[in-house]
Amino acid sequence: MHFRKSLFGLALLLTGLSFSIFSCETKESSAFTNPTMKAFFDNNCSSCHSNGTYNAGSWLYDPSNDKSIQDHIQHIYGEVYVKKTMPPAGLSQADMAAFKAWYDAGHPSN
Ligand code: HEC
Repeated sequence: MHFRKSLFGLALLLTGLSFSIFSCETKESSAFTNPTMKAFFDNNCSSCHSNGTYNAGSWLYDPSNDKSIQDHIQHIYGEVYVKKTMPPAGLSQADMAAFKAWYDAGHPSN
């Protein structure tokens, strides 16, 4: 009896778990409008990574869809903060600090 109850609980738990994973995957995308970081990406990345620019194939920056940032955040963080390969010209200390603070705060889209 007790065993059955815990099985039922486990099934409930798993259902809830898969539901939350599912709803996470299907989250609607929205525009990326973060007050400081929209300007950061516009100024430092869009010249090479927007639609129609030469390296958009490697990573496409599209502020009308925040998935272009959120789905690639670990990659972006790696290039910008860990390896410091992006942008090729480098960042000012202030821009680097702003990037890191935004990343640590959970990289909000707005
Ligand atoms: C002057 C042009 C230029 C600018 C500005 C630029 N990039 Fe890039 N980016 C490139 C090129 C070229 C590559 C391809 C490099 C390679 O494959 O070796 C690249 C590759 C990348 C990649 C993919 C790396 C990989 O291994 O596939 C990411 C992510 C990226 N850039 C992010 C950024 C971010 C974020 C910014 C702004 C902070 C930025 N880039 C600014 C030219 C640029």
